[in-house]
Amino acid sequence: MWKLIFSLFFLTHPVALSGKSSISRTYPLKHLASDCNNLASLQRGAKYFMNFCSGCHSLQFMQYNRLAIDLKIIDKNNLKASRQRLNDNLVFVQTDPSNSIKANLRKKEALLWFGKIPPDLSLITRTRSIDWVYTYLLSFYLDSTRPFGVNNRLVKNTIMPDPLALLRIIPPNDYRAINKINSNLNQHQLLINANNHKFLALTGVAIDLVNFLAYVAEPTKIVRQALGIKVCGFLLFFTCLVYFLKQQIWKNIK
Ligand code: HEC
Repeated sequence: MWKLIFSLFFLTHPVALSGKSSISRTYPLKHLASDCNNLASLQRGAKYFMNFCSGCHSLQFMQYNRLAIDLKIIDKNNLKASRQRLNDNLVFVQTDPSNSIKANLRKKEALLWFGKIPPDLSLITRTRSIDWVYTYLLSFYLDSTRPFGVNNRLVKNTIMPDPLALLRIIPPNDYRAINKINSNLNQHQLLINANNHKFLALTGVAIDLVNFLAYVAEPTKIVRQALGIKVCGFLLFFTCLVYFLKQQIWKNIK
């Protein structure tokens, strides 16, 4: 009887029908030691974010201006030209650089297409962790039963389409280019080489993206770490100074 009631509940319950996403507690997270001092990686991450993610996700606590100054996209000595560089490469919507980074997707349409609004990613590496976001991005696989043809090993039945899917498809020309040097390899080896290349390209993009999101979650980290070293240096210097002062003062006292 209970079994019948339970199965009726799950069959009629909208959550069961829509196949709501659920996070796997057992799937092992891939570790990533993010490096917020790697400026080139942060710049690439910003580029990837604006190209692959900002269509759906906002960064409500980050302004274009702040991003451009921190990542040295704006050159203070050549403001006019570098602002143009920012507008040409990172700002894809009609907005002022002093505004925060908003998603291009309207909330109403997001609800219509995904059934939920893609969450803001400003603090995602702090709410979920760096390793979690990194693993999520790299754990998509093909699944014809899902609406977008992909599923995720970490977030089962996720509604997000694989945003890096484009990178998994290597056009035939590139595929040949990768193997140009080894033209006498057999077909199997060629395929392995192409797959390795694809994997490296994909993980590289994911690393830059997560590095960038970690910076967005704590933009002062770069300054904080640099300041920390200076403060420790000063304290060490001050300790020596005080120590010698103490020797000087106590030298005549028995
Ligand atoms: C086509 C729209 C779309 C694009 C593009 C997109 N996402 Fe998403 N994203 C979503 C939706 C919808 C969800 C909610 C998924 C769910 O709950 O199953 C989501 C969820 C996420 C989450 C999980 C948030 C959480 O706390 O559960 C992360 C992290 C994320 N996206 C990162 C990214 C990154 C990084 C990119 C760019 C490389 C990206 N997304 C591109 C639609 C998108």
